[in-house]
Amino acid sequence: MNKLFFIKHYFLPTAFFSLVINLLLLAPSLFMFQLYDRVLGTRSKEALWLMSALLLLALLVMGIIEIVRSRILVNANNAMDLMLAPFLLKKMVEGATSPEGNPNTHALKDLQSVRSFLTGPGIIQLLDAPWLPIYMVILYMMHPLMLYNLIFGSLLMASLSIASEFLTKSPLAEANSANRLATRFVDSAMLNAEVVNAMGMQNNLIRRWASLNDQVIVLQSHASKWSGRISGMTKFVRQLFQAMGSAVGMYIMLVDTTFSMGFLMAGGIIFGKALGPLEYLISGWRSLLETRAAYTRLDAFVKGSSQEKPNLLELPPPTGQISMEHVTFGIRATGKILIRDVSFSLVAGDSLGIVGPSASGKSTLARLLVGAWKPQQGVIRIDGADLANWPSDRIGEHIGYLPQDIELFAGSIADNIARLDEPDSEMVIEAAKIAGLHEIILQMPNGYDTQIGEGGTVLSGGQRQRVGFARALYGNPKILILDEPNASLDTAGETALVNAMAHLKAAGTTTIFITHNPHFINNVSKLLVMQNGSLAAFGPKEWVMAQLNKATQQAQVSA
Ligand SMILES: Nc1ncnc2c1ncn2[C@@H]1O[C@H](COP(=O)(O)OP(=O)(O)OP(=O)(O)O)[C@@H](O)[C@H]1O
Ligand SMILES: [Mg+2]
Repeated sequence: MNKLFFIKHYFLPTAFFSLVINLLLLAPSLFMFQLYDRVLGTRSKEALWLMSALLLLALLVMGIIEIVRSRILVNANNAMDLMLAPFLLKKMVEGATSPEGNPNTHALKDLQSVRSFLTGPGIIQLLDAPWLPIYMVILYMMHPLMLYNLIFGSLLMASLSIASEFLTKSPLAEANSANRLATRFVDSAMLNAEVVNAMGMQNNLIRRWASLNDQVIVLQSHASKWSGRISGMTKFVRQLFQAMGSAVGMYIMLVDTTFSMGFLMAGGIIFGKALGPLEYLISGWRSLLETRAAYTRLDAFVKGSSQEKPNLLELPPPTGQISMEHVTFGIRATGKILIRDVSFSLVAGDSLGIVGPSASGKSTLARLLVGAWKPQQGVIRIDGADLANWPSDRIGEHIGYLPQDIELFAGSIADNIARLDEPDSEMVIEAAKIAGLHEIILQMPNGYDTQIGEGGTVLSGGQRQRVGFARALYGNPKILILDEPNASLDTAGETALVNAMAHLKAAGTTTIFITHNPHFINNVSKLLVMQNGSLAAFGPKEWVMAQLNKATQQAQVSA
C-alpha cells in the first residue's frame, strides 16, 4: 500500500480540518459563557446580536469544513479501492492455485472493513480523540471536580466494557466457529443435493446439521445473556453519569461563588464534547482492534505478494518450444512428492501424449506446464525462457489449457470461449468450429449469446467439455495442453477431437494430450509415460511403444 500517498493526500488534510473543526467547536461554549456572564450582566442587546452573529459564522464555517472532511474521506476510500481491489483479486486468484495451505480468501473482505471504517463514524471520533486532553485541561481549569466526574464515569463505563469482553469473548468466538461449521455443512449439502435426494439422505443430513446447530444456539444464548445484562447496566451508568454532571456543576456553583452560570453552561458543553470520543473508545475499541488487524493482514498480504522477481522481460511471442528440466514438485506440509525429477523437451509443433495409471501425476504435470503450480526444483522453459519470468497475463494468451475438471463461468457461451475478454466473434466462431461446437451452438435458442451457469442454460457434460476445448483454442495459442479432453465425449465428439488434432498439427501448434485412449495416442508423434510421479519413458511414439512392449514381454517371461 502506498502509505505516503495516503498520508499526504488524505490523512494530513483530514487531520488539519479536524483541528479547525475542534477549535470552532469551542465557539458554542464561549457563546454560552458570554451570554450568561456578559450579556446578562450588561443587559446589552447589541452584544447579544454580535455574539449570535459570530456564533452563526463559526458554525457555518464548521459545517462547510465538516462536509469537505467527509468528502476527503470518501475520496480516500474510493482511491484505496481503485488502487488495491484489482491487485488484491489478482493476487488472491494467483495464490489460490497453489496446493499448499489455505489460499487467502479474505483480502478483499479486509479491504472492505478498512474502507467502511474510513467512511464510518469511527475515524472522525478517532481524529477528535487527540483533543481529549485539551478538553480535560479546560475542565480542570474551570473546576477540578468537573474533570474528576468525567474520569470517574469513564472508568465505570470502561470497566463494564472490559467485563463484557471478558464474559462474552470466548462463547462468542466458539459460537461463530460452530456457526461456520454448520454453514459450511449446509453449503456442501446444497452442492450435493442430487446425491442427497437420490439416495434418501435427507433425514441423516438434518440430524447432522441439527447437532451442529444446537451447539451454536447454546453458545450464542450464553453470550447474549451476558451481553444483555451488561448493556442494561451500561445504560443505567450512562444516564446516571449525565445527571451527575449537572448535579456536580450545581454543587460547585453552590460552594464556589466565583463559578458563574456561564461557566456552568460552557462546562456542560465541553463535558459533552469530551464524552463523545471517550464513549466511542470505550464502546468501539473492539471494532477498532478488528479494523487494525484487518489493516495489518492486508499490509502483510500486499507486501508478501510484491516480493516478485522484476519479471518485465520483453519477450517475443513464443514459437511453441517447451521443456522441463529436473522438475520436482511436492506438498511441503505433508512432504509428499507428486512429481520427481522430470525432464523432457518438445520442439515447436510437436504433439505429445502423456499416459500412465491413475494418480501417477499426469494432471500435476499439466498444472506445472501451464504455470498454475510452481515447481520447487527445476525449471520449465518456453522458448528457452523460464516460465517463472513470464508475466502470467502475457504468457496466458499463448497457452491453451483444458483442465480435467472443467469449470465454466457465469456468462454467455461466447464470453466463456473468449476467456472472459470482450468476445471477438470471428475468433470465437473459429475456435468453436475447430472444437466441433459451432453446429451445436447454432441449435441453441440464443446461439453464442446463450447464458450458462447460474440461472442460465445447463450444458451437458460433453457440451461443457467442448466449450472448455474451444476456450483453450481461442486466439490460436502456440501451446495447447489438454487433460483427458475426451472424458465425456461421444463418438461424434471424439471424431471432432481427432479432426481438431489434425488441424492443430497442420497449424504447427505444440500439443500435449493426457489420455487413456489409444485412439488419440495414434495421432501423436511423441509419448511420455508417467509412473508414480516419475517419468518412466519419453521419446518418439514408436520407440516408447516398443520399449513398453519389451518390458511387458520380459515381465511375462520372468513370471
Ligand atoms: N491439490 C492437491 N493437493 C495434494 N495432493 C494432490 C493434489 N492434486 C493431486 N494430488 C495428488 O497428486 C497425485 C497425482 O495426482 P494427479 O491428479 O496428477 O494424477 P493423474 O495421473 O492425473 O490421475 P488421473 O488419471 O486419475 O487423472 C495423487 O496422488 C494425488 O493425490
Ligand atoms: Mg488427471
